[in-house]
Amino acid sequence: MDFLDKLVLPQSAHHMVLIKYLLVLANILLVPYLSVLTGSLIFSIYFKKQAEKKNNPHAYRFSKELVDLVTFNKSVAVALGIVPLLSSSFGYAQLLHLSNFEVSNYLLLSALLLLAAIVMIFTFKYSFHFKDIFKVADEKGIGSSEFEKEQINKYSVNTNSMNRKAGKIALYATIFAVYFYVGAVQLAIDSERWTAGTNVFSIVFSLSTVVNFLQFFVGSLALTSIVVLYKYFRPNSDVKGEGEYFDYIKKFSLSNSLILTIAFPLMIALGTVVKTKLALSFMVFAYAIAAIILLLFVSSLIYFMLKENHLKYNLAVLFLYVVVFALLIIKDQYAFDTSTQKHFAVLAANYTDYETNLKADLGIGPAISGADIYNGRCIACHNFDKKVVGPPYNETLPKYEGKKADLVKYILSPVKINPAYPAMPNQGLKPKEAEAIADYILATYKK
Ligand code: HEC
Repeated sequence: MDFLDKLVLPQSAHHMVLIKYLLVLANILLVPYLSVLTGSLIFSIYFKKQAEKKNNPHAYRFSKELVDLVTFNKSVAVALGIVPLLSSSFGYAQLLHLSNFEVSNYLLLSALLLLAAIVMIFTFKYSFHFKDIFKVADEKGIGSSEFEKEQINKYSVNTNSMNRKAGKIALYATIFAVYFYVGAVQLAIDSERWTAGTNVFSIVFSLSTVVNFLQFFVGSLALTSIVVLYKYFRPNSDVKGEGEYFDYIKKFSLSNSLILTIAFPLMIALGTVVKTKLALSFMVFAYAIAAIILLLFVSSLIYFMLKENHLKYNLAVLFLYVVVFALLIIKDQYAFDTSTQKHFAVLAANYTDYETNLKADLGIGPAISGADIYNGRCIACHNFDKKVVGPPYNETLPKYEGKKADLVKYILSPVKINPAYPAMPNQGLKPKEAEAIADYILATYKK
């Protein structure tokens, strides 16, 4: 998408460091939110299937409440999902300027998919509630005439199928949004892949994308289980947290989070190993190991809660999980930094050029002197009164008297003129410089 390219302004090295910090921040908002969104949707659909299969009212209630977990407020979806994704896209557009635009494009695509997913998740949620209302109305035979009863029955069937479809589309859209997000971040890290003519396939089939996607999945389901525990069983929770239903949730969430917390370190180790060699550094390993150690500690906390049947470490576990997510994001940022060093050196040089030109255009910065250009370049082939490689200026300049623009044009792109001489090579001057040297030689030859 070209418009991203137009938005980019060359950045100084300091600004680029700042953008990297902002990227980390955006990701720390995005990843936990996206994880709980994905996790609760998957669990919700799973429990709905479970409820239908086994006719289990607990599973049905849990399925319904799970969608409410992240959909309590629409602006949260925008603030924690869409906005960070868009900022990442613009951030990467700045950082990967001149070398890779695919990363930004995939992030934009991911934002669009997430938007679609969020709309569908809300449809899923509302149809869930409506379908129950219609079902009750249908079962109780509400409606005064046969026609009304028929209508209600029709709505009941329609809402049910809408609910099913919305859930399915939401799930696909979310999974693709996540996949493109993970793919984009991994592509940014893997600078070796930039030149290899990247296309959708190169991110779909990259090993690091697949492994990191699985890692995201494990983390997402684990975090969702832990958020569920926190929501239902924190001391000042608005739900009582007692009774058969709550035992059902507790047992599921505890054992689930334990298994996933044990699997998570394996995924992290794998995700680190499959990274390109260019990206590996001491800091990348240090952060990966810190996350793994923390997870082992968390899994022991969960184990004790499960064994002793209490939820004392609930909040600590949630907090530590968020720390693990932050560590993983910083780890990936280090990997990105390490593998893109060369690229950033190019960008910094590009910025210096840009700055000098900008200053020259604005007339601030050191003035370009015609004398300097003459002494630096032209003198090799030109003298005012003697023939060197090129003709003496005193012979050629009179015809440019009063036609400075023509002279500037010639200097910027010389054409063959005098058969007695070879052609003049292009001197690669900028327009401002050509003007300065034209002024200088025109003023000097007369003396
Ligand atoms: C590598 C040698 C070389 C350098 C360096 C060089 N020139 Fe020339 N220049 C020539 C030659 C050879 C010609 C004659 C070309 C022709 O007549 O086709 C020429 C011709 C010219 C002419 C005459 C054009 C005309 O209309 O007859 C001007 C003016 C001129 N150069 C300006 C410059 C300026 C200003 C610079 C420095 C920015 C410069 N040149 C640097 C080789 C050079």
